[in-house]
Amino acid sequence: MKVDSQDRYVCLVSDRRERAERLASGIALVQPCRTIEPGAALPGGHPVAFVIDMAADRAEAESAAWIGRLAGLIRARAVPCLYLARGNAVQDAAARRLFGAAAMIDPRSAGIVPTLLRLVEEAQARANPGASVGGPRARVGTATRLVTRLFDAAAANRPPSPAVAEEGTEIVLDTVSEVGIRGWLDLVWRHDISVYQHSLSVAGFAAAFAAELGLSGADRRRLARAALLHDVGKALIPRAILEKPGPLTPEETRVMQTHADLGADLLGREAAYAPEILDVVRHHHERLDGSGYPEGLTAPRIGDLVRLVAICDVHSALTERRVYRPAMTHAQAFAIMEEQAGQLDPDLLRAYRPVVERAATGAPSLAIAAGG
Ligand SMILES: [Fe+2]
Ligand SMILES: [Fe+2]
Repeated sequence: MKVDSQDRYVCLVSDRRERAERLASGIALVQPCRTIEPGAALPGGHPVAFVIDMAADRAEAESAAWIGRLAGLIRARAVPCLYLARGNAVQDAAARRLFGAAAMIDPRSAGIVPTLLRLVEEAQARANPGASVGGPRARVGTATRLVTRLFDAAAANRPPSPAVAEEGTEIVLDTVSEVGIRGWLDLVWRHDISVYQHSLSVAGFAAAFAAELGLSGADRRRLARAALLHDVGKALIPRAILEKPGPLTPEETRVMQTHADLGADLLGREAAYAPEILDVVRHHHERLDGSGYPEGLTAPRIGDLVRLVAICDVHSALTERRVYRPAMTHAQAFAIMEEQAGQLDPDLLRAYRPVVERAATGAPSLAIAAGG
């Protein structure tokens, strides 16, 4: 069985339940996290890192044996381990050695999640040296910086630079064709959760979809560029709403929904953005049955490019991790999208299915198990 990236998780071992909850929700922003208490069944699956927050100097034989088994498992897995210091220098040093922990940090430090990310990245770079400087990984870093510039300009109420959008689009197209949509998503979601990652993820799906449909080079570029820019109006939405860790109130929803018009109006001030790009930005939340916004358009008035980006946008949104809910698998997301066939174009959805399969498995073609 292939490992879906969503099966990979950080294992937090903690004997402090309240602190564990806070820590786990911080870690979950960047990687799925499972918490186990000392004495519980040892973790299975594919942990990418361990965070140890427990006293390791247990006197009772049973506890000591469990700790020994855990340490053996961590070493056998050869994945990074971060040990949270308990304040006794001698015992902490012994515990760090026992677990082979690459780093030790104060449990009250704000640097726990960044340190963990660094350890995971370093381990992945060691495991896959081809993905270092100049490789796909570096290009995703560049793409993130470019998208940041697009959104920074928009936040300052300036139309983002067409040249920067162009450069970002080329990176998405090149990298998705080189490493596939699965590889692209793994790279994009490694760092952070934000509207930048969402834009890169939707653009990646769009690039893969364009290739799946056999579109010409010019059309691929148009689709990927539209996807990259589709949510640029979110730069003008208050952060308190944009980053609210929970469902929005009706008034907040109304404000959030203005992002479509705001983005299109902003890009419309720059002649280099073609009308079909503005159409995508303004109408990517329109739905074929008229239930969308901002104008409640129905099928005859919703263009092809808009329909394509809408599918990629919904797929990405459903499979992204949110503070208030776990990520869905690609198969679960696609099942929901199929139920919304009155909203999303059913023919295009059928054509999109192989992209979903590749996103889930990295394989060129693999049937999605029903409900799996
Ligand atoms: Fe949007
Ligand atoms: Fe979006």
